[in-house]
Amino acid sequence: MIKPALASYASPPLSIPRHIAIIMDGNGRWAQKRGLDRFKGHYQGAEALKRTIQGCQDLGIEYLTVYAFSTENWKRSKEEIGILMSLLRRHLRSDLAEINQNNIRVRFIGHYHHLDTDLVALIDHAIKLTQNNTGLHLTIAFNYGGRAEIIRAAQKLAHKVREGKLAPDEITEQTFSQELFTHDLPDPDLFIRTSNESRISNYLLWQLAYTELVIVETYWPDFTKDDLVNAIVQYQSRERRFGGYATAQSR
Ligand code: IPE
Ligand code: IPE
Ligand code: MG
Repeated sequence: MIKPALASYASPPLSIPRHIAIIMDGNGRWAQKRGLDRFKGHYQGAEALKRTIQGCQDLGIEYLTVYAFSTENWKRSKEEIGILMSLLRRHLRSDLAEINQNNIRVRFIGHYHHLDTDLVALIDHAIKLTQNNTGLHLTIAFNYGGRAEIIRAAQKLAHKVREGKLAPDEITEQTFSQELFTHDLPDPDLFIRTSNESRISNYLLWQLAYTELVIVETYWPDFTKDDLVNAIVQYQSRERRFGGYATAQSR
């Protein structure tokens, strides 16, 4: 089998995506297929994330944003929610030093409410410790929902208007996006969802407006650097128009 090579496409290929956003999906099915408890899928999913972070660093990706827990995931069993919370807790304890050594800057997007105070403290510590790092920007979407994020931004703007700090006409795409959790991140160029699901599931609703979507069959725990490279190669074969013309047609 011939392996696709990065940027091997005929002229002119898109460059490496600056920002990749991933929905890490399929942990449960990965485990089920093996007759294992679905929690095992989450444990292996954390390993896949480590591989992906390394892969992004190797490939020179600037921003990686991953969906780790959605505002809808509270619908799961208490036990599974507990496992997902402690998994984050555990990795923030065991891997933060290495993350910091690797010059990775960690951010979190999502709501702190409903999270245990010790977990919030670990999250805050990770953000502070790595805030001056200049390597990969790793953003973890945790207790995140795109609709809740948009509502929160609308409320913040409404308060500013009421306080006379902003005129209604000054509510623009720019001022609006400044109130989102992602205010200091560029919009994603490439979106990857694993386990063959073709939906956005309330992820980065505003930010994905012109992102290239790539759905891969692999369950997240099996996701490798080759899968990452394949997704990037697909991205590079796309023609981004942003509502305008393809480059070759532009005048
Ligand atoms: C993704 O895997 C992890 C989280 C949503 C936290 P799932 O747990 O959704 O796995 P499937 O989709 O049931 O296989
Ligand atoms: C999205 O996956 C959330 C995360 C990966 C954290 P889900 O598995 O929760 O999404 P649906 O329910 O299949 O849409
Ligand atoms: Mg799922």
